[in-house]
Amino acid sequence: MDITARRPGPSVQEVFAGDINPAPDVLRAESPAQGQSSADVSAERYFSKDWHDREVEKVWRKCWQLAARVEHIPNVGDHVVYDIVHDSLIVIRTAPDEVRAYVNSCLHRGTMLRTEGGCVNQLRCPFHGWTWKLDGTLSIIPGQWDFPHVNKDAMRLPEAKVGIWGGFVFVNFDPDCEPLESYLENLPEHFASFNLEDRYVAAHVAKIMPCNWKLAMEAFVEAYHVSIAHPQVMGYYGDTNTQYDVWPEVRHVSRMISVQGVPSPSLKGIPAERTIEEMRRDVPFFAGRPIVVGEGETARGKLAERAREKISRSIGRDMSALSDSESLDLIEYTLFPNMVPWGGQALPITYRFRPNGDDPESSIMEIMFLFSKAPDGSHPAPAKMTMLGPDQNWSDAPELGSAAMVADQDTDNLMRIQKGLRASRKPGVTLARYQESRIRHFHETLDAYLSA
Ligand code: FES
Ligand SMILES: [Fe+2]
Repeated sequence: MDITARRPGPSVQEVFAGDINPAPDVLRAESPAQGQSSADVSAERYFSKDWHDREVEKVWRKCWQLAARVEHIPNVGDHVVYDIVHDSLIVIRTAPDEVRAYVNSCLHRGTMLRTEGGCVNQLRCPFHGWTWKLDGTLSIIPGQWDFPHVNKDAMRLPEAKVGIWGGFVFVNFDPDCEPLESYLENLPEHFASFNLEDRYVAAHVAKIMPCNWKLAMEAFVEAYHVSIAHPQVMGYYGDTNTQYDVWPEVRHVSRMISVQGVPSPSLKGIPAERTIEEMRRDVPFFAGRPIVVGEGETARGKLAERAREKISRSIGRDMSALSDSESLDLIEYTLFPNMVPWGGQALPITYRFRPNGDDPESSIMEIMFLFSKAPDGSHPAPAKMTMLGPDQNWSDAPELGSAAMVADQDTDNLMRIQKGLRASRKPGVTLARYQESRIRHFHETLDAYLSA
């Protein structure tokens, strides 16, 4: 399916003709073990401390991971602190065209150099004042006479590797890691027309989740649960005809595309007016003057038309060439291990999922909205992150709009899943061949890293 086909493009019926649930051959292989006690993915990986420790060594210290957006650090000295389990990095712009990631620990007695982001012209430890230049060289040791045994030149701040793609800053702790360019596999090619580098963070909300980071992510990469967990969207969301893609030899990337502006195939006889009304109810983006479906027109076509108008107006640029799919659909990718960027324009989300410190049964989930920048630079500064605690709801962050209700529904389930997996007498979870193929693919890659 060509998501970026320009108008006049194929209708959604044409796009999906013969393409509903096109289970790839690789998924049709007979399962080796059927029955009540079979499991595709072990349960312990969601709560075992041993498993968590192995992920720290083999995933978090080996894989490229999203640390910041470039617009968070536009000027020299701007930095953010990126924490992952016990590791911490200062991701800092050290020159107009250079970003580095320093290990956030003083080389005197280990004090964290920075506890939060900001702008500095040097990195000075708050304990005894050892100070590093932005290029990482040690410049000041107060009372230097007492450190004749310290070779300043050997006291550069240790660094992680840094790579930039799509306006995202990635870091990797492994000095021998594969280059970001090859790690990203087919992602840059697929995002060529989505221009994530021309977006800015319009909303950013994080929440402490009551579950392992993988469980949280898995709830957002399949539409199989939508009819039960989010019944309110069924009038305008294609759940069972969502397309899932995993590709041979592609380790880190998977995709799903859910059409919007059409009812779920499981609902019959839904009039176009109801699809429009329910989508407008849940997505304020489509509010405003009435949307009327004329003879020979579709709800999806009219909603896409409204989306193109609104997107064009909000960013001050003609976006009338966007396809219906780019304007409306949920076009969602995964980048192993923990980033979930979306390509479309009406729902321009990126998720990130991380362990919450050293606790395998708690995680930090983030939702970012990445709206297109205005060509004249009149778009707002990047949004400050709202941090929600374990007892708060996503709905406590009004900037998320209707996405908050959906995320709250998922969070309620995730708490039950985390507890239920502990209570289970079954060795693990059973996955659908097609609709949960991205989860299966994720765990194949995870297993490969853990056994490397
Ligand atoms: S611990 Fe940093 S200067 Fe002493
Ligand atoms: Fe969900």
